[in-house]
Amino acid sequence: MQTSSVDPRLKGRPVARIPFDAETIARRVAELGREITAAYPDGDLLVLGLLKGSFIFVADLVREIERPLHVDFIVASSYGAGTVSSGTVRLVYDPETSLEGKHLLLVDDIVDSGRTLQELSTILRARKPKSIALCALFHKHIATELTEPVRFYGFDAPSEFLVGYGLDHAEDFRHVPYVASLQ
Ligand code: PRP
Repeated sequence: MQTSSVDPRLKGRPVARIPFDAETIARRVAELGREITAAYPDGDLLVLGLLKGSFIFVADLVREIERPLHVDFIVASSYGAGTVSSGTVRLVYDPETSLEGKHLLLVDDIVDSGRTLQELSTILRARKPKSIALCALFHKHIATELTEPVRFYGFDAPSEFLVGYGLDHAEDFRHVPYVASLQ
């Protein structure tokens, strides 16, 4: 598999390093799948992925969860302009699926400030799921705004600009099958 800075998918952008190659990610996602399978011995499980960043992670993760489940997606957006979030999340696409009485696993690619997952879990809790758990591939551990734990996460995120496996830079590089750190 192509994993070097000459990968044409990277549009010539210099890569500092590749902290997570495809095999490393696949191994950890399989472990997470086993953890999640064990954590939900019964009940209805709904895996709800937050687009767009989680689309590859969710696709791989659900195939490692060996119990019945449903999958849906949600699209959220921060109010306000600029690069700094205003701290208020609204739902741009809202799943049709009823959450009542279900175990809800809310999946994101990366937890940064934690604001997105915090606000979404508050919104979704009002729909009376039986439980809510948070899951992310990467956790920066700087989420001062998050009052609940990220119960399932893949890796501690290094403080570098990561792209690939769903993570983007200006919408580029989401399809890169490993995670690279751009210079
Ligand atoms: C990114 C990422 C998380 C969120 C994390 O989403 O995918 O959803 O930011 O940041 P936070 O913990 O500070 O809230 P982005 O808004 O870039 O959208 P995307 O998923 O479409 O890339």
